Amino acid sequence: MVVLVLWAGGIDIQAGRLSQGVVIAFINYANQILLALLIVSNLIILLTKSMASAARVNEVLDTPAEMADPERAPEPPAGAPAVEFRDVSFAYAGTGNRALEHVGVSIPKGQTVGIIGGTGSGKTTFVNLIGRFYEATSGCVLVEGVPVGRWPLRTLRGKIGLVPQHAALFTGTVAENIRWGRPDAGMDEIRAAAVAAQADGFIRRLPRGYDSPVERGGANFSGGQRQRLTIARALVADPPVLILDDAASALDFLTEARLREALRKTGRGRTVLVVSQRVGTVRGADRILVFDGGRIVGDGTHEALLRECAAYREICLSQLPAKEARA
Ligand SMILES: Nc1ncnc2c1ncn2[C@@H]1O[C@H](COP(=O)(O)OP(=O)(O)OP(=O)(O)O)[C@@H](O)[C@H]1O
Ligand SMILES: [Mg+2]
Repeated sequence: MVVLVLWAGGIDIQAGRLSQGVVIAFINYANQILLALLIVSNLIILLTKSMASAARVNEVLDTPAEMADPERAPEPPAGAPAVEFRDVSFAYAGTGNRALEHVGVSIPKGQTVGIIGGTGSGKTTFVNLIGRFYEATSGCVLVEGVPVGRWPLRTLRGKIGLVPQHAALFTGTVAENIRWGRPDAGMDEIRAAAVAAQADGFIRRLPRGYDSPVERGGANFSGGQRQRLTIARALVADPPVLILDDAASALDFLTEARLREALRKTGRGRTVLVVSQRVGTVRGADRILVFDGGRIVGDGTHEALLRECAAYREICLSQLPAKEARA
């Protein structure tokens, strides 16, 4: 365009019919119009793109949940166990292998249950079924005597505090991360939860204490610190059922012992499920479930299992000094 205008304008300037200024002004105006046209054409592209994206986002939002979510909470029967599995089998979608096979167990309220077993034996799958993160393929999971499918999801998950195997923290501050457990928790409750989770000590030593920033995924904390923050997050909600899925695996033995002690002191009447690979973590529990290949192969106290359960004895022998394991 500029070349054309200069060409035609040049001839007229030569002939004395136009001044140079008029040609330059013309080029400037034309440039401005062109620029505006460019923006409009970009806008049209953006608009079509965003319309297509909006349609897909709506598609996702409109997808009905596969899991039915009842509106009204049922009245739980009195004296029912906190958690009960009735002949539950479960296979992850798309896999033929069963991660749990014919699991039947009843956990009374207030009991502390240790869950131990090799990697891939189905421990995480077991605890995830309690919070109804998956539906059992067959059999029935009951919480407080009511099948999990009949609890509204919000109510059910309000009853269960799950500290997942992989500590997940979010961008924000330490206090905000703990407050995820209960959005209306006050600063005192947050501090109390952190004290019980053995996190208060290191939080206080941070330059900005509870207002210290947390990077995405908690990248600026150590593995053990992350675990303690997620435990505090579960504790602040004070759930009737607390599940720790290998949540103390990165803690040293002394800190872990203190954590167990604090949990026992603060959680009277609370049902606690402690998943661990370590015998030391579960041996003090009221009862230990031994998982192997998706089945429960042992159920009893540390002493009873040592006598009766070969799988448990094997785990003990691999971890404890031989004398202690035999004793
Ligand atoms: N999301 C998934 N999709 C498909 N298969 C899975 C999935 N999660 C676990 N599995 C399979 O289910 C089985 C049980 O896994 P699970 O996570 O319950 O083991 P685990 O006892 O918690 O092990 P670990 O001690 O290593 O945490 C494993 O064989 C595993 O391969
Ligand atoms: Mg696991």
